[in-house]
Amino acid sequence: MSNYMKLEIAAKSENEGFARSAVAAFALGLNPSISELSDIKTAVSEAVTNCVVHAYASERHGERKILIECQTEKKQTEGGFLHITITDYGCGIEDVDKAVLPFFTTLSADERSGMGFTIMQTFMSDFSLKSEKGKGTIVKMTKEIGVEKEEVRERADA
Ligand SMILES: Nc1ncnc2c1ncn2[C@@H]1O[C@H](COP(=O)(O)OP(=O)(O)OP(=O)(O)O)[C@@H](O)[C@H]1O
Ligand SMILES: [Mg+2]
Repeated sequence: MSNYMKLEIAAKSENEGFARSAVAAFALGLNPSISELSDIKTAVSEAVTNCVVHAYASERHGERKILIECQTEKKQTEGGFLHITITDYGCGIEDVDKAVLPFFTTLSADERSGMGFTIMQTFMSDFSLKSEKGKGTIVKMTKEIGVEKEEVRERADA
């Protein structure tokens, strides 16, 4: 059985904590481990922070909103997949291939390290980025839940 939620928030840094806790609370339905939950929270934080600091950096970009959509896909046995889509309607990214490289940042003077997308890719099971200049950006991520427990059980059985 699958489940979903949609959340629209103002692109303000004060909403970042709310967004990551909301997604984490939704993910509880899949019975994640503490470390899986923490990976999800970290990835959502990075994506939402990017919307706030990059997408809507200029006042020109009208409605400062972020859409967060989550969908669960339960496996028949235990665990499953959490699919997360984070959409903004901001400035978009000139070159997505460059943007995902470790240490690439357009805000180096601002003490950004350019590691946000790398963190999302590392902490999640699947990641994709689509962007259109002047239109906005869509980050899609999937976390497979329950793999760690299976690994532990396999090791215990061995
Ligand atoms: N939602 C977005 N809208 C527009 N540009 C974005 C967006 N997200 C990322 N970018 C661009 O991609 C670059 C890389 O993003 P990434 O999150 O990897 O690093 P960063 O945000 O610069 O630094 P850090 O995340 O380590 O603080 C950014 O510097 C910015 O130019
Ligand atoms: Mg970032």
